[in-house]
Amino acid sequence: MKRDLLTLWDLSPEEIGALIGRAMQLRSGEDRNRCPLMGKSVGLLFEKASTRTRVSFEAGIYQLGAQAIYMNAMELQMGRGETIEDTARTLSRYLDSIIIRTSEHSRLERFALSADIPVINGLSNSHHPCQVLADLMTIREKKGRLKGIHLAFIGDGNNVANSLIEAACRMEINLVIACPEGYEPDPDVLERAREAARSEILMLADPREAAGRADVIYTDVWVSMGQEREAEERKRRFKPYQVNDALLSCAKKDAIVMHCLPAHRGEEITDEVIDGPRSVVFDQAENRLHSQKALLEFLVQDSRG
Ligand code: CP
Ligand code: NVA
Repeated sequence: MKRDLLTLWDLSPEEIGALIGRAMQLRSGEDRNRCPLMGKSVGLLFEKASTRTRVSFEAGIYQLGAQAIYMNAMELQMGRGETIEDTARTLSRYLDSIIIRTSEHSRLERFALSADIPVINGLSNSHHPCQVLADLMTIREKKGRLKGIHLAFIGDGNNVANSLIEAACRMEINLVIACPEGYEPDPDVLERAREAARSEILMLADPREAAGRADVIYTDVWVSMGQEREAEERKRRFKPYQVNDALLSCAKKDAIVMHCLPAHRGEEITDEVIDGPRSVVFDQAENRLHSQKALLEFLVQDSRG
């Protein structure tokens, strides 16, 4: 029976822990010559731009012994009206798994329902689980644990924030989200997580208060892909939420700074902070490679029995 990763609810906390452990092993260089996906083909179907997700998956797939096939959705017949369902059924006959980057999350769900192969969310408007798997690995590497960590997300309640909420509730991380009124994360995501959580999941308006107890300060762009028309209004509303030296001075002395990238320097984060000693953003970006390799091994290796 195939397994998908559309949101972090598709993995149990034990599975997330095991994937992080395996990703750390892969990062250390063990198993360098093992090719568990030899002879397989993994597709990447992208409807939005990408640097990290595309390249880390393509490189990782190659390192696992498989072939990566990148598809720009506009160059497929999908771009001329072939249905998602027919595309999913057809591609399932050629591929062993597929990573999809799209807009509405329901497009992924439709694809996954019709596909016989594992479908991996490479970002939708509402979730970014592969990013957050790498984030969890990074926090565990830098802080030695996940349980009991205090994470402050400062900025837009977007796809990355939603996946962080799900991760916090699964892995017992205390999460505070500071955002302007009207830009909160999805209420359904929050409600489901709070019902299951054994840690705190709080919303605050004041970024300084949110930073106060933080071991990790996390931010993301104020204008996500597809929101370009709202850019001016968003930049005005989010200005007090910039992660800068003043905000960092409110956090613990050993707090680290994370950003999923790409960064809009001078907007949500300053050069001083992103290039400063507390920033771990490029280790975080590297961990996309290791954690996704662990994920592919887990989902793809035996998915055809
Ligand atoms: N963080 C992330 O997903 O980056 P890309 O948009 O470059 O893939
Ligand atoms: N929130 C951002 C994340 C990019 C990796 C976006 O959706 O554009």
